[in-house]
Amino acid sequence: MDVFHIEGPVQLFGTVRINGSKNASLPVMAATILAGGRSYLTGVPNLSDISVFSKLLRQLGCRVTRNAKRRLCIDSTVIDNPVGEYEIVRKMRASVCILGPLLARCGRVEVSMPGGCAIGDRPINLHLRGMRELGARIHLKNGYVIAEAPNGLTGKDIFLGGPFGSTVLGTANVLMAATLAKGRTTIESAACEPEITHLATCLNKMGAKISGIGSPRLTVDGVRQLHPAEFEVIPDRIEAGTFMVAAAVTGGELKLQNCRLEDMMAVVDKLRNIGVTVEPDGNGCVVARNGPIKPANVTTQPYPGFPTDLQAQLMALLSLADGNSVIVEKVFPDRFMHVAELNRMAANLRKEGPAVIVAGVKKLIAAPVMASDLRASAALVLAALAAEGTTTINRVYHIDRGYEKIEERLNPLGARITRESI
Ligand code: EPZ
Repeated sequence: MDVFHIEGPVQLFGTVRINGSKNASLPVMAATILAGGRSYLTGVPNLSDISVFSKLLRQLGCRVTRNAKRRLCIDSTVIDNPVGEYEIVRKMRASVCILGPLLARCGRVEVSMPGGCAIGDRPINLHLRGMRELGARIHLKNGYVIAEAPNGLTGKDIFLGGPFGSTVLGTANVLMAATLAKGRTTIESAACEPEITHLATCLNKMGAKISGIGSPRLTVDGVRQLHPAEFEVIPDRIEAGTFMVAAAVTGGELKLQNCRLEDMMAVVDKLRNIGVTVEPDGNGCVVARNGPIKPANVTTQPYPGFPTDLQAQLMALLSLADGNSVIVEKVFPDRFMHVAELNRMAANLRKEGPAVIVAGVKKLIAAPVMASDLRASAALVLAALAAEGTTTINRVYHIDRGYEKIEERLNPLGARITRESI
């Protein structure tokens, strides 16, 4: 188990290159199941979640090799075990996105129910609704979902909206399954996240017929088969947003390379309201803050709204604002494990149902804190960079799931982070 020791306060200056997106890589890796043969993905980040998903694909029968630092070859010629084991799915809920492609490819799939996690319940009822609408028979057994469509899937008009709006991986599952269904499928209330747009573009590169890409209504005309392809993974907008907040919370200036501002308009808008400058620069941007941090109100929503995956990081920044802010979490209402830990660092946060009142304080003070989930842990790192003293963050493995050796990317910019194995 690793811990971080982070000295603060520091100011960050310099240039950082944003990696390929974890949340774009995983569904595209799953999509390779649809076409027997070798597909190649470049720009895939070196993360534990990617390794876990690669292990899952191997359990299905695929051969997965990393033939360069960030280039994966997935050979899905053989799929002889269409089962998503509990041992893997319980660690990484995104594994559920093998459901759609396996059902379309093999006509039968068993996937463990994901269960809950630190950010709240992770139901898959919308995924299963989509599979049923496409003609699959679904039943549950010993905590596993068993989906069967021995005669293939049939296209349908499907409404996929849930109580919190669209579902990202639910859209991915239904979209992938529909590519090989007989006839036309429309997915109403589809997720519009850039990662879904990327997936749809990759599926069309494999021979799928998808239109309405980027809109909440996707139309899929089923085809008989897809073929393997080569893909370049889009940049990670959440990692980019995390580094933007790092510049803002330390009062420094960072140049971000390989960052698509068009995927981050809600984030950039909010940061500018807070007093952070974000200027386009080449294939990225320059982010700086040299005035006060202004308070702001933010509500997380499905894309193009403010992303829930940056809620914790923004809370760390607003903890030091000149005034009170309100953060409302509309996607995962329980996603507040970072609140108690930030309060240990002298933040002044009060949870009121799905909202947190953030009373800005003059300074944060270092303390031993506990990482709980990926983005909450990133928020603790950001707070520690600005806090006075040395913060110790336990359970750093949460951070390693979504950020590649974050200390090796922050230290050259002026951070003072040491990783200790205990
Ligand atoms: C994806 O999770 C991301 N994960 C999450 O990022 C992200 O927070 C989330 O989308 C929202 O943007 C990956 O892409 C691997 P959802 P996903 O289905 O698809 C409810 C990170 O930190 N819902 O869009 O699982 C659900 O409970 C991770 O990188 C149902 O009710 O999220 C939630 O309230 C964390 N029924 C809301 O919808 C369902 O069948 C949105 O969830 C499915 C979801």
